[in-house]
Amino acid sequence: MKPTVFVTREIPSEGITLLKKKCNVVMSKKKRVLTKKELLTGVKKADALLCLLTDKIDPSVIKAGKKLKVIANYAVGYDNIDLKAAQAAGIPVTNTPGVLTDAVADHACALMLSSARRIAESDRFTKQGKYKGWEPMLLLGGDFKGKTLGIVGSGRIGTAVAERMIKGFGMKCVYYDVRPNPFMDKLGAKKVSLDAVARKADVISVHVPLLPTTKHLINSSFLNKMKKSAYIVNTSRGPVIDEKALVSALKKNKIAGAGLDVFENEPKLAPGLAKLENVTLTPHTASATIITRGAMSRIAAKNVLAALFGKRPPNQVN
Ligand code: GLV
Ligand code: GLV
Repeated sequence: MKPTVFVTREIPSEGITLLKKKCNVVMSKKKRVLTKKELLTGVKKADALLCLLTDKIDPSVIKAGKKLKVIANYAVGYDNIDLKAAQAAGIPVTNTPGVLTDAVADHACALMLSSARRIAESDRFTKQGKYKGWEPMLLLGGDFKGKTLGIVGSGRIGTAVAERMIKGFGMKCVYYDVRPNPFMDKLGAKKVSLDAVARKADVISVHVPLLPTTKHLINSSFLNKMKKSAYIVNTSRGPVIDEKALVSALKKNKIAGAGLDVFENEPKLAPGLAKLENVTLTPHTASATIITRGAMSRIAAKNVLAALFGKRPPNQVN
């Protein structure tokens, strides 16, 4: 009998086609996140679970998946999965690293550009009919050349952002990480303390995974140390930034602006955030290119197939 793969929501067909060659695929047709009950029912008979970052895979889901041989997350981040519970049940957990690095890095740069050059704000201004002619002082923003980029978390994505901004925009770069990164050093980036990133950078981009140690890594104390003229961009996970503190800093013009693709309580926004002019907001779409989402689908499928057919999944994280 073919093994059954439970897919919690429609994903691009590339991976599904691969899975169907060897497995029975049960894919939710619902155009929304599954309820806990639906998730529990779905995993009951499944040999593999292909889930999304919006599915909370807690101990009860893992317990219900008595036959599960793998939990393949359709994302690079996997903070939605209780790794300890998966470990205790002997279930490998996998992610989709590498294939989304460029797309997410591009998006982080787009948010930096939008923040500094006030693109989203200018778009609203122009569409609202407020543009009455060229003005010397209209919507002045920040520069990149010769300015300092601050990277918080120099993994694949953080490094790709640094490379783009150093080589493409002529920026200097400082970075904070728990360990040194030779690629960053080769780019000419300097490893410094988190404090120094806050104080020195003209634009900051956040690329750490969400862990107990990185929750609210960017808090009011960090924001208070930033330059008044600086911008901050987040394409990692919302809870890494204390969103209430960020709204307060933006409101008081303690910093110049922010670009956010992720939010602390997605899809909800912190009170007041959406009313601010000096922010660009995108709905967790940093990896949303046709090629990238297709590649993520293939990688997730390959991880499932490896685990089901007795191999170590290439992207096992536990
Ligand atoms: C998206 O946020 C991902 O982790 O892939
Ligand atoms: C994730 O892919 C990272 O290492 O930045």
